[in-house]
Amino acid sequence: MLLGAATSSHQIEGGTFNDWTLWEREGKAPPVGEACRSWEKMEEDVKLLLKVGANAYRFSIEWSRIEVEEGLFKIENLLRYRRFVDRLLEVGITPIITLHHFTNPVWLYTKGSWLNPDTPKIFSRYVDLISRYFQDVKIWITINEPNVYAYRGYVEGSWPPGERSFFKALRVIRNMLRGHSHAYSAIKANVKGAAVGMAHHLRVFTPLGPLAKLPVMLREYLFNFLPLYSDVHGEIPPPVALMERISSRGDFVGINYYTRDRVKFSLRNPFGIEVAPENAWLSSMGWEVYPEGLYMLLKRYNFSRPVIITENGIATEDHDERIRFIAEHLRWIKRSQNEGVNVRGYLYWSLMDNYEWLEGYSAFFGLFTRDRKPKGDINLKKLWREV
Ligand code: BGC
Repeated sequence: MLLGAATSSHQIEGGTFNDWTLWEREGKAPPVGEACRSWEKMEEDVKLLLKVGANAYRFSIEWSRIEVEEGLFKIENLLRYRRFVDRLLEVGITPIITLHHFTNPVWLYTKGSWLNPDTPKIFSRYVDLISRYFQDVKIWITINEPNVYAYRGYVEGSWPPGERSFFKALRVIRNMLRGHSHAYSAIKANVKGAAVGMAHHLRVFTPLGPLAKLPVMLREYLFNFLPLYSDVHGEIPPPVALMERISSRGDFVGINYYTRDRVKFSLRNPFGIEVAPENAWLSSMGWEVYPEGLYMLLKRYNFSRPVIITENGIATEDHDERIRFIAEHLRWIKRSQNEGVNVRGYLYWSLMDNYEWLEGYSAFFGLFTRDRKPKGDINLKKLWREV
């Protein structure tokens, strides 16, 4: 079993400059500042991983650091990540590389980011280069949460580029799935034995009343099912495309799981509206903690493939609560394994407190503080044995 933690470049490195930086400068998100300074301190992050008994680490390579202008690659920065991966391998930690975790280089942003039909090819040229340098990395995540990216940036408009168009969101998802497909082929060609997938954000949707079953079906289909199905079966279903073939075969199912939404029917919104949970376990961000939901999703969405929980975490200032959270989720994972689901890994979000997008530094997901102080004892291997 792979046990470890997950992070992303913009959220921990500091000194990144990408489309999210522009968003911050426009005052639409708190400034990231120096984050956790992981760009300088990556090797210290390895020590943290060892302290919590991790044997796997999922992190992302910041595209804007490598392809500084379109087609112009800064190899020096790539070698910085290379040294980091060497260190992980030396101490027996399995590296899991994410290639796109929400942020885009500014030159791509000015070309329309993922609305641009050329972006899938541009992305795969970049991925082709990266994967040549990391032939000893065997687990790859091309794109993190296309559904969340498209929803926040193109439906809700709270993330860059701040659009509000359902149809644009569908185009963005299509291009991301195409980008995933090209990247999948590039990695497979360069890295012998690579397992390539995506990190899919899945949610449990609970209908409040019989009429709410309709909006829940819509959410289930578009948010949970469609991207994952495309990844696993290699074809993109409507309304995003007409069963367009892509090369992905879903070497594993990557699941990010946090919470469930209780959904009420509404005449004004076909997707219904979310109702605040009552009498429920809530994180400090007000998200409902619902460990059994992970089991439900694992049973429903494993597609008979190996599964990696690529993210699962809680924002809380109470570390004992965090340990309880992890233990509860591990327990449900074990139960799913006993019932035949092939779960191969669990990555806690996040290794340390970091930049939580619109919430800035006010949400505390970390096993360690932002300046790498332990919050209390936790050993993932031991916890896994005990639950
Ligand atoms: C994202 C992370 C984020 C976490 C907690 C996930 O959806 O991949 O970047 O920090 O949720 O909100």
